[in-house]
Amino acid sequence: MKFFASALNVCFILLTTNSCRALIPRQSLVSRFNPTRNASSLITPMQVGNGNFAFGADVTGLQTFQPFNILSSWGWKNDSLPPGTTQADVDNYHGASLLNHGRPVEYDFGGPEPIQQWLIANPNRVNLGRVGLLFMDESGSVLQDILESDLDAKSQKLDLWTGIITSTFVYAGEQVSVKVACGQESDVVAVSIDSTLVSQGKLGIFLDFPWNDGSSKFSAPFVGNFSVPDMHTTTLSVASAKYSGPAQVQAEIAHTMDAATFYTSLAGDDVAINRPSPVEHRYNIRPTSKRSSTLSISVAYGTLTTMGQTISSTADVLQSSASTWDQYWSSSGFIDVLTGSTDSRALELQRRIILSRYLMRVNDAGDTPPQEVSNLINFGFFRKFHMEQYFWHCVHWALWSNWDLLGRSIDIYSRFLETSIQRAQVQQGWPAGARWPKMTDPSGRSSPGEINNLLIWEQPHPMVFAHYEYRAFPTTATLEKWESIIRETADWMSVFAWWNETSEVYDIGPPMYVVSEDTNPNVTMNPAFELSYWRFGLGLAESWLQMMGKDVPSQWTNVRNKLAKLPVNNGTYMVYEGIETDFWTDPAYTSNHPALVGLYGWLPATPGLDLEIAKATAEKVWDTWNATDFWGWDFPMLAMSAARNGNPDMAINWLLNPLFTFDDVGMPGGGVQVPSPYFPGAGALLLGVAMMAAGWDGSTGHAPGFPEVGWNVEVEGISKSF
Ligand SMILES: *[C@@H]1O[C@H](CO)[C@@H](O)[C@H](O)[C@H]1NC(C)=O
Ligand SMILES: *[C@@H]1O[C@H](CO)[C@@H](O)[C@H](O)[C@H]1NC(C)=O
Ligand SMILES: *[C@@H]1O[C@H](CO)[C@@H](O)[C@H](O)[C@H]1NC(C)=O
Ligand SMILES: *[C@@H]1O[C@H](CO)[C@@H](O)[C@H](O)[C@H]1NC(C)=O
Ligand SMILES: *[C@@H]1O[C@H](CO)[C@@H](O)[C@H](O)[C@H]1NC(C)=O
Ligand SMILES: *[C@@H]1O[C@H](CO)[C@@H](O)[C@H](O)[C@H]1NC(C)=O
Ligand SMILES: *[C@@H]1O[C@H](CO)[C@@H](O)[C@H](O)[C@H]1NC(C)=O
Repeated sequence: MKFFASALNVCFILLTTNSCRALIPRQSLVSRFNPTRNASSLITPMQVGNGNFAFGADVTGLQTFQPFNILSSWGWKNDSLPPGTTQADVDNYHGASLLNHGRPVEYDFGGPEPIQQWLIANPNRVNLGRVGLLFMDESGSVLQDILESDLDAKSQKLDLWTGIITSTFVYAGEQVSVKVACGQESDVVAVSIDSTLVSQGKLGIFLDFPWNDGSSKFSAPFVGNFSVPDMHTTTLSVASAKYSGPAQVQAEIAHTMDAATFYTSLAGDDVAINRPSPVEHRYNIRPTSKRSSTLSISVAYGTLTTMGQTISSTADVLQSSASTWDQYWSSSGFIDVLTGSTDSRALELQRRIILSRYLMRVNDAGDTPPQEVSNLINFGFFRKFHMEQYFWHCVHWALWSNWDLLGRSIDIYSRFLETSIQRAQVQQGWPAGARWPKMTDPSGRSSPGEINNLLIWEQPHPMVFAHYEYRAFPTTATLEKWESIIRETADWMSVFAWWNETSEVYDIGPPMYVVSEDTNPNVTMNPAFELSYWRFGLGLAESWLQMMGKDVPSQWTNVRNKLAKLPVNNGTYMVYEGIETDFWTDPAYTSNHPALVGLYGWLPATPGLDLEIAKATAEKVWDTWNATDFWGWDFPMLAMSAARNGNPDMAINWLLNPLFTFDDVGMPGGGVQVPSPYFPGAGALLLGVAMMAAGWDGSTGHAPGFPEVGWNVEVEGISKSF
């Protein structure tokens, strides 16, 4: 609770009166969905983590047979600059200009290579390493060729209520048990192995370190390259860190790739460490005490700035994992759609909710917005985060009473404010405001790319986050905290809208990309979704200043009132004004994100929206859009539209659509477009379910997004949506 330390959310208040926990049998409901496996998946790990740091396990509980990843929100590096270029080329990079209603505007694309590609790929996030089981014979020689099939009676369980993975198997006739958890206050993997094989000196662990660079757009399911040891170095040294347990810090390994160095510290029971070959980066770690059948080791990952911190003992990490997860499940919002429901769809929906709640806490609760695709599982789109997806990744925290988790990253808008003002006013010459980046990294730099720089639907997002925060914390402090962000955001939205003297309306674009990224940006003008989001966002900005008792800039009101009307043709809204009238039959336009259903669903009714036309439009999308091309958050977006349009049965079906997959451990599938898992899908599921269960402004009745027959929906600590 470092961010909202003084604030109590709804459920905490209920808890102090002991009425929150009593209603839904939370622990039994959560535990019912504990994932189990008896073989490694080749695609998704079982995972433990803390939002900033996560560890992906194969069936052994470690990364013995499958090199799943150890990823963080802080582990970034720059590749060396391309030959023949210098830092000056980075600093002086300029992209091409496009005319915005006659005025040249410089964007970050169409600039000189090879520095442009370097800027797309850098900085990039690294896979911090690998921890696996080490098998040895009586003499202590390492057995290199053990396969997963050599282990018998494999069984693995993730206890969602404690965040602890337990794996058991039989090897060489001996039972082995491995427990793994992730530190909650620090980025530590705690490993506890119990087997006679340990006391016999036949079982230990290994650590390994891959090379990482920005050469590929997607890195899934495994990140980095373990086969190019010459590209990087590791050095083993005696540790300087402290340890909270009775045992000692055993070693530190510094891993250097180009100019970046990351540190791995090993603490716990006495071990011997050796490196099989000076050019490889695998370290073999054997227990030295033959008295004990347990080996407890904490492996901490960090940078120079976190070195020297006390490393938690394995017992402490297991304990802190259990108490943190208990608190998370007990005191956040909760939705039970299963108990008392007779509809056969309830079980799978509940499973998706519970597993998404777990995985979002592991993957989407870091100090920066989540990486676009698979956050701490693997990487997509050059390992960076994309501010338009921040909405789907993280808005649900606001509705589920998880302000502490959202609070870790939400100040990204303050952190990026100065550079976004620079982008808008200095680089692009707009008279006012801040233009947020799309694809970016902790520096706030906009990654080159046409879509990255011409997409606009990320711009109003801060208004939504701010308003949800004010609803939860209606204080002057909240108003003041967001004031400059709201002003700069609304200022840019207002100046981007262009006064068309012929039609006497404010036009949006061209150039611009729409949500579906599939129209020609040079002619895209007045897209229905973005126009509505502009109206909605500017309205929120106005009400912010009104709540502060301050004057609303007349430009905001002018633009909002005189924005172009939503383009409509033959009874349905259009993607943008002037799109071919038969676009409904053109596969070029009826694929990709169907944002037209967001007009009433994702968004509430906005001024000027005709609800009948919005409904006809949604129905047309349901009937004619290329459904095999839907992916991720499209399904919850479709569900929200069905719910608001009075079709809750269809809403449930969208959330359970066969193409919207959640695998055995709850990882949301990426569908045809992106690698799996695709976490905006899980974030959107939690947003959609919250809206359907707790309702939206103006909705009536209990759980208005659920069918009345067959469903019993209990809701605790969930806020209403817009
Ligand atoms: C474990 O293995 C058995 C038999 O091979 C199989 O029937 C069962 O479904 C498996 N359980 C899980 C959770 O995969
Ligand atoms: C990578 O280089 C860019 C451009 O010089 C710089 O802004 C950024 O801070 C660097 N990041 C890291 C992690 O070194
Ligand atoms: C690792 O790099 C080598 C050399 O470039 C390449 O041949 C190999 O395919 C790479 N492996 C992975 C997993 O990317
Ligand atoms: C002004 O609006 C009309 C009608 O929407 C449009 O056809 C025209 O292209 C706009 N003018 C300019 C210069 O963009
Ligand atoms: C848009 O206009 C720019 C500048 O004239 C041009 O380079 C680009 O190819 C055009 N894009 C499309 C999709 O027509
Ligand atoms: C208008 O919409 C109706 C109903 O969807 C359709 O039957 C008709 O063909 C459309 N007309 C045109 C000109 O697109
Ligand atoms: C529909 O989408 C799928 C998946 O992207 C694609 O393979 C197919 O070609 C699309 N169909 C049409 C008619 O565009």
